[in-house]
Amino acid sequence: MRSSVALFALVALLGFAAAGASAMPAHKFHHRPVHHNGDADTAAYPLIEITLYMESLCPDCQALIAGDLWNVWNSSISSIMNLTLVPYGNAKESQSGSTWEFTCQHGMYECVGNVLETCAINLLQNSTVWFPFIHCLEGTSAPNAAGPACAAKLGINFDPIDACMTSAQGNAMEHEMALKTAALVPAHTYVPWVTLNGAHCVPCENGHLKQAICGAYTGPKPADC
Ligand SMILES: *[C@@H]1O[C@H](CO)[C@@H](O)[C@H](O)[C@H]1NC(C)=O
Ligand SMILES: *[C@@H]1O[C@H](CO)[C@@H](O)[C@H](O)[C@H]1NC(C)=O
Ligand SMILES: *[C@@H]1O[C@H](CO)[C@@H](O)[C@H](O)[C@H]1NC(C)=O
Repeated sequence: MRSSVALFALVALLGFAAAGASAMPAHKFHHRPVHHNGDADTAAYPLIEITLYMESLCPDCQALIAGDLWNVWNSSISSIMNLTLVPYGNAKESQSGSTWEFTCQHGMYECVGNVLETCAINLLQNSTVWFPFIHCLEGTSAPNAAGPACAAKLGINFDPIDACMTSAQGNAMEHEMALKTAALVPAHTYVPWVTLNGAHCVPCENGHLKQAICGAYTGPKPADC
């Protein structure tokens, strides 16, 4: 069912993604969620780093984003995770002068969808803003074309994202996603490919994302765990 990776290994990524919770310090610790039942100290626990390596037209990626990933995101579990998306997947790239040319598993529209999502992640910065946008895109049959409608629905200004998609800046951003994917150890062999705190997490891909995040968190569990 999964899209197998072709016999090339040049992928990569980058990650931004502020965590989903608000009022969070800009480093990798956060204060206890309000759901804890203990004292009100400000002990900090490391957020669970969840990174999804995906490509825009892959059906299993769409199912994960619409299903388990959205379900943990749209719950108190979002307060203990730091989500990063790497829209590149099984694409290939080659350098042409000062720009990169991408070839995507599901064709050119997938490449357009990937760079759209990459621009959105980089420009919007805050995952509380960009993840619902990408969730909206991936909930359609043509993510590459859904930008204006999803942006309007979520109150996001699409103009800078639109401009980014065909700019040298957007091209460089997508190349960063290629590098991030290529940096995976072990290399990915399919998408969606999920890492938890940097390690490949097969249960995260197979229906146990919530259990994996909750189980890895060292602090008091949020209510939805
Ligand atoms: C992210 O956006 C949300 C919703 O607008 C906001 O509440 C939150 O403070 C923002 N987080 C950061 C780190 O800017
Ligand atoms: C989330 O992860 C990104 C990428 O690793 C990192 O730059 C950022 O500081 C993290 N944010 C938090 C709140 O931990
Ligand atoms: C998010 O979860 C709440 C319940 O906690 C639910 O009412 C709402 O419909 C969910 N939103 C989406 C977009 O799934």
